[in-house]
Amino acid sequence: MRQPFVAGNWKMNGSRASVCELVEGLIQGIDSVTNAAVAVCPSFVYLADVQRMLSDTRIALGAQNLSDREPGAFTGEIAGAMLKDFDCKYVIVGHSERRALYGESDELVARKFTVALENGLTPIFCLGELLQERQQNQTESVIARQLDVILTLPGGVEGLRGAVIAYEPVWAIGTGMSASPAQAQEVHAFIRQRIAKKDAKVAAGVQILYGGSVKPDNAAELFSQADIDGGLIGGASLDAQSFLDICRATSA
Ligand code: PGA
Repeated sequence: MRQPFVAGNWKMNGSRASVCELVEGLIQGIDSVTNAAVAVCPSFVYLADVQRMLSDTRIALGAQNLSDREPGAFTGEIAGAMLKDFDCKYVIVGHSERRALYGESDELVARKFTVALENGLTPIFCLGELLQERQQNQTESVIARQLDVILTLPGGVEGLRGAVIAYEPVWAIGTGMSASPAQAQEVHAFIRQRIAKKDAKVAAGVQILYGGSVKPDNAAELFSQADIDGGLIGGASLDAQSFLDICRATSA
């Protein structure tokens, strides 16, 4: 049985005060979340504050990005070891905003994935198709290409034992237009089957999250799909009550 998992991706949002207020709200309500593992991914500059606040709770900490390099002369970059230093358990890798706005290639994403694992971090590996690719019936080929970059790493499919996958159709991110439960399930099943061709055990165990306009009112139906193991939540994770509602929807 895969444990449901819900992670909040706060992106470049909040102030020090609002982030602390959000964490307070989560701490107050987390006992009502009975079966899901929960993590939040604040901006780098707030990691220390959030780490301190979460230290005695069951909410895990994650980062939104990491460098593909080991520590050294790389101005403006953040190393995996630094994230470990702040008790990060997770790190988001290959988010579509990084791919589209900061030019991250499949190869760079793969290096970041490897560096995350080497540093004892669990990568939340994001993949997803553009609207145009879906309209041209290219969803499966795009997902296959993005996934194969990870499956063909030297560590191969084994790397996915220590990872989480997030399917995030780009057209659904921040648009209010979520994939339907059936659309999402279809791609999740495709991802799991493709991994199973390499290793059925890894495929059965890996958590595959859905991301893209998940809200309290659509979460339960999405999470009830056979291959959807939780969510990566952007906008709706910035409000403690709506994020907790989404976390609780894993047991609906
Ligand atoms: P959204 O973002 O929930 O605001 O659509 C999801 C994500 O980008 O991870």
